Amino acid sequence: MDKEIALAVKYEDGRLFFLDQTLLPEKEVYVEITNETEAWTAIKRLVLRGAPAIGVGAAYALSVCADHLAMETVSAFCEEIHRIKEYLNCSRPTAVNLSWALNRMESRLHSSDKTTVAELKEVLRAEAKAIYEEDVRMCRKIGEAGQEIIKDKMGILTHCNAGALATSRYGTALSPIYVARENGLHVRVFADETRPLLQGSRLTAYELMKAGIDTTVITDSMAAVVMKKGWVDAVIVGADRIAANGDTANKIGTYGVALLAKAHHIPFYVACPYSTVDTKTPSGEDIVIEERAAEEVLCGMGKWTGPKGAKVFNPAFDVTPHALIAGIITEKGILRAPYDQSLRKLDCR
Ligand code: MRU
Repeated sequence: MDKEIALAVKYEDGRLFFLDQTLLPEKEVYVEITNETEAWTAIKRLVLRGAPAIGVGAAYALSVCADHLAMETVSAFCEEIHRIKEYLNCSRPTAVNLSWALNRMESRLHSSDKTTVAELKEVLRAEAKAIYEEDVRMCRKIGEAGQEIIKDKMGILTHCNAGALATSRYGTALSPIYVARENGLHVRVFADETRPLLQGSRLTAYELMKAGIDTTVITDSMAAVVMKKGWVDAVIVGADRIAANGDTANKIGTYGVALLAKAHHIPFYVACPYSTVDTKTPSGEDIVIEERAAEEVLCGMGKWTGPKGAKVFNPAFDVTPHALIAGIITEKGILRAPYDQSLRKLDCR
């Protein structure tokens, strides 16, 4: 990468910081997270966002909260950890990485043979670090696996931000683009602006340009024209939760992009690590979709663009049916249909 992209989550000397992504691209500001309310609010407000990053940040937040607990008995400590875990878990409902990381932290606590609260705090610190490091490794491998579909001079359209800012490093959908560039390939990216909160233009364009990647921002409504002109050879997006049958929840608008890709005979890929796959959820119908405040649509960037009090429908995500997905790029290679079988292999560890 040309210039280092700021880390979404930083843990230094026992202190936790989230990059405030609501201020990007104008300012790179870190906020310190010292308690559960700050962590919950930061995730809810999208200071920290993107499925893998939310999981990593919540794991570290649980560990930081644990460090502040004064309980002397292990049972009281574990009870309090459980309460904080449940609280953090309800900050956002759709990205499964959040509950995956928090459950993993709690399970590690219960499987540990340590017998003192001080030792268990250390166990949580180590597990949060392990989740972070695993995410870095998996994202890198997603980038390497993605080379199978990358060709020199190709055009790629992406939606929302599934890059370094949404993970510990490299990203998911953007990782193949970063690796391609390292390999000397030239890839042109079309970044959907991504209404209503503009993660595509504010975050994706910001990080791709920092990395020296040829990037063109388009509004969501321009995707069809760009495809019709023949500028897009593949679509790659991230995911917040993939159900057992391959149906994929991702940022609102993704489903529309998948339909456009089908109409233009362009392959539509999803990129994600195993922590985004939820084989306990049978299909997209069963995925809980977060609905957010009306103001995000009517007054998204601080200016009223619709009448106050207007009725608004603001789902943060939609579900792309598995039939529209050409492949799922994972740390273990590109999975193909039938996804109920290929995903099961990924999830069994
Ligand atoms: O609401 P956000 O910004 O958290 O939504 C993020 C997305 O939809 C991403 O595409 C998804 O989390 C994958 S991130 C690697």
